[in-house]
Amino acid sequence: MRSVDDVYEAIENMTVRGAPLIGAAGAFGLYLATLEITSQTNIREHLSNAARYLISCRPTAVNLSWAVNYALEKLNRDHSPASLSGTALDAALEICEMEKEYCRQIGNHGLKLIESLSEKKGGAPLNILTHCNAGWLATIDYGTVTAPIYLAHDKGIPLHIWVDETRPRNQGAKLTAWELGEYGVPHTLIPDNTGGHLMQQKMVDVVFIGSDRTTGSGDVANKIGTYLKGLAAFDNNVPFYALFPSTSIDFSIRDGISEIAIEERDPEEVTTISGFANGIIESVRICPENTAAANYGFDITPARLITGLITERGICKATEKEIKKMFSDKFK
Ligand code: MRU
Repeated sequence: MRSVDDVYEAIENMTVRGAPLIGAAGAFGLYLATLEITSQTNIREHLSNAARYLISCRPTAVNLSWAVNYALEKLNRDHSPASLSGTALDAALEICEMEKEYCRQIGNHGLKLIESLSEKKGGAPLNILTHCNAGWLATIDYGTVTAPIYLAHDKGIPLHIWVDETRPRNQGAKLTAWELGEYGVPHTLIPDNTGGHLMQQKMVDVVFIGSDRTTGSGDVANKIGTYLKGLAAFDNNVPFYALFPSTSIDFSIRDGISEIAIEERDPEEVTTISGFANGIIESVRICPENTAAANYGFDITPARLITGLITERGICKATEKEIKKMFSDKFK
C-alpha cells in the first residue's frame, strides 16, 4: 500500500480485516497521507480529510476511528512539517505494539479460564466454539480469541475448536481453520447453523467470540451470526465469553442495538461463494440470477447473554458497573 487510497481500498475490500488490524492499517494510512504533503498543501486540512476518509471506510469496528484519531492527535501536536511523517509512523508502530501486548494479556487471562474449565473435563478435550476469525489475521499478533487457545495448546491442555464457517465471507473456513491448522490445534469446521445443535448435545463447553465494538455497558457487536450463538448458549447454559482489547470498547455509548452502525456490504458477497478450484480462487453464484440479497456484516449480542468479557486488564462481567471498575481511567 503506497497511498491513502490504497489503504482505503484494502480495508474496504477486506484484504486487511479484523478490528485491531484495520485500526493499525488506518494509522499507517495516515502516515501515507503525510507523505503526500507538498509545499502547496494545507497540512491540517489534508490530514483531517485523510483521517475522515479512512474512518468512513468501515463503520462498525471502533478500532478504526480510535487508531486513526490516536495518530491524528499526535500529528496535531506536532507543529514541525519536517517531522510529521516520523510522528505518524511512530504512532502507527506504537499502535501495533500496543495491540500485540493487549492480545498477549488477553491470552494470559483467557488461559486461566481455559485451565479451570479443562479441569472439569477429566482429561477429555475442552470444546470451544468460535465464530469468524479473531486470530493473528485479525490482529497484529496472537489474536484475541486465539491467544489463550494457543497458550493452552502450548501447555498441553487438550482442546478441540468448533470453527463456524462464517458466511458470507467465510473467515472461519478460510482463516481460522488455516491458523489453527498451522498451529496444530485440533478443530472441526461446521456450517454456521450447527452451533445450537452441538450445544443441545453438550458438545460445546464454552463459546469464545471476538468483538468489533463493545459498549460501555457490555453489548457486543461482532460478525453477523454471533447473536444467534449467544441465544443458543444462553438457552443451553453454555458459558459465552467475548475477548477483545480495550481499543474495541466504545466508552461513549451504552446501547449497542440503537447506537452501533451495522455495516451493510455488497449483496454479491451473499449471492456468490468463492473457493479454490485447481489452485486458483474462483467465485460461483449460489442462487438464481437477479435474486435479491441482504448483507449485514455484524450483529449485536446484548450484554445479558454474555457470561464475561476478557480484555487485557482481566475478566469482568458484561455490566456497566464492572466495565467502569476495570476501566475507570477511560470511562466517559
Ligand atoms: O468483517 P471482518 O472480517 O473484519 O470482521 C471482524 C471479525 O473477524 C470479527 O467480527 C472478530 O470477531 C472481531 S476482530 C478480532
